[in-house]
Amino acid sequence: AAKRVKYGCGVVGAGPGGYTGAIKAAQLGLKTVCIDKRGPPGGTCLNVGCIPSKAMLQSSALFHEAKQTFESRGIMGADNLSCDFTKMMENKNAAVKKLTQGIEGLFKRDKVTYLKGYGKLTGPNSVSVAMNDGSEQTITAKNIMLATGSEIIEKLPFVEVDEEQIVSSTGALDLKQVPEKLVVIGGGVIGLELGSVYERLGSKVTVVEFLPTIGGIGIDGEVSKEMQKILKKQGINFMMSTKVTAVEKTGGLVKVGEANCASRTKKAKDANVVLVCVGRREFRDGLGAEEVGVELDGRKIKVDDTFKTSVPSIYAIGDIIHGPMLAHKAEDEGAMVAEYLATGKHPHLDYNNVPSVLYTHPEVAWVGKSEEMLKQEGVEYRKGKFAFAANGRSIANMDTDGFVKVLSCKKTDKLLGVHIINAIAGDIISGACIGIEYGAASEDLARVCMAHPTVSEVLKGAAQKTAFGKAVSG
Ligand code: FAD
Ligand code: NAI
Repeated sequence: AAKRVKYGCGVVGAGPGGYTGAIKAAQLGLKTVCIDKRGPPGGTCLNVGCIPSKAMLQSSALFHEAKQTFESRGIMGADNLSCDFTKMMENKNAAVKKLTQGIEGLFKRDKVTYLKGYGKLTGPNSVSVAMNDGSEQTITAKNIMLATGSEIIEKLPFVEVDEEQIVSSTGALDLKQVPEKLVVIGGGVIGLELGSVYERLGSKVTVVEFLPTIGGIGIDGEVSKEMQKILKKQGINFMMSTKVTAVEKTGGLVKVGEANCASRTKKAKDANVVLVCVGRREFRDGLGAEEVGVELDGRKIKVDDTFKTSVPSIYAIGDIIHGPMLAHKAEDEGAMVAEYLATGKHPHLDYNNVPSVLYTHPEVAWVGKSEEMLKQEGVEYRKGKFAFAANGRSIANMDTDGFVKVLSCKKTDKLLGVHIINAIAGDIISGACIGIEYGAASEDLARVCMAHPTVSEVLKGAAQKTAFGKAVSG
């Protein structure tokens, strides 16, 4: 029999957007329910995205670093190291389990009711839930927050993902062994991160990219070029401006047909595993959003600046709405909707100040505008660039690849964009985010006292070059 409970806030999806929104709503006093069909909460990010990929990036990077640098540091015996891939995967699974259980713990602590089942809107204030245990529930809520996220696009009509030989990121994070030859279709974020993982573990990796540049949307051209050089040196083979024309399974291998877009020459390559990562799409299957009157904007759910959809009691956040498909963006939106519903306050997010990070080694991180965007917008800018090769800590760390580039307005010196290639670029970028958020000039960054010897000092050095034309060192 259907059970009826009245909630203040009903959240569909327990990814970074949904779980953050649900917890924040409960903390602010709303009786809250969160629904997810996956079972373990945490969405794409914790289960098959950010967290497992970073666990594998870290393990493979340590393995690689030990082999590459230990002997020259005087730590001997590294040439005998071997990789127990099964154990590496178990370690990754343990990180996922700890975090997803952690979210269930947070739900209990803050009294969020968590329902494991498939949610379908049945009206502006009601969701029917086909529970994973086979039962049915209907929940009613004053407001509903949709956070159903995204899934992979296969897009290529001749490719059928079987998650064993032809895999998406989900299958690539769950392989049984390191493939001898891996072909990656798409040189965006997933292709470069997971391509790096397997390259470090011994696979021969070829990335086939349709565009002439790697790194996906929004990456600065100079950064993309430099990164491609670095990854090539590490052993990744790139086929740029190349279209995959066929993917066929033959005799235990996968044959990948490729055509160069410019020269129109065709080639074929054998692989043990093919990773398809040509982007992700919004997931709304079976949600019933359009049926209750929620309007779309293309494939995205249309929202106003309070994340309200065209149905006034229904809100939407995360990968299913506009903006970058990133976990931190989804989290901030979830928290903002909760605050708005509970308090009527209207917090906002500056979409120009959402950082992007590519967790290769070195990492790539940026916030604000790229040089290409500024040129396109006709904005005159100053540019300061400082290389890690001149940074004491980076030399001591034996990790000198990359640079920081600081872009500011030519007239006002206001920070417009910061781009970093470095082992810990994703951490350093936070300093730039704070600067941009508070309207800092490059001179402000150049005058902040930063600890020595740290890798972050390069941010200051690059800002000195932008503000004064010169840096004291470098
Ligand atoms: P999701 O995390 O996709 O969660 C949506 C949830 O809703 C899912 O659990 C789904 O089961 C559930 N759901 C959907 N429909 C229903 C329904 N009708 N009823 C019940 N439940 C439903 N982002 C970063 O910022 N940093 C990274 O390092 C990063 N790495 C990534 C690596 C990979 C391999 C991938 C694939 C993605 C990565 N991302 C990363 C992107 C990030 O995972 C997403 O941007 C983020 O998870 C989006 O959060 P969300 O809450 O909008 O949706
Ligand atoms: P992506 O959009 O980053 O990259 C896709 C790449 O595939 C592009 O470079 C595109 O030109 C190329 N491509 C498209 N069609 C092609 C074809 N037919 N042949 C060859 N190349 C083709 O998408 P990706 O890597 O699948 O990642 C999806 C999303 O997941 C990202 O946009 C991001 O939002 C999220 N993500 C974020 C991460 C992070 O923040 N570190 C890590 C992984 C994923």
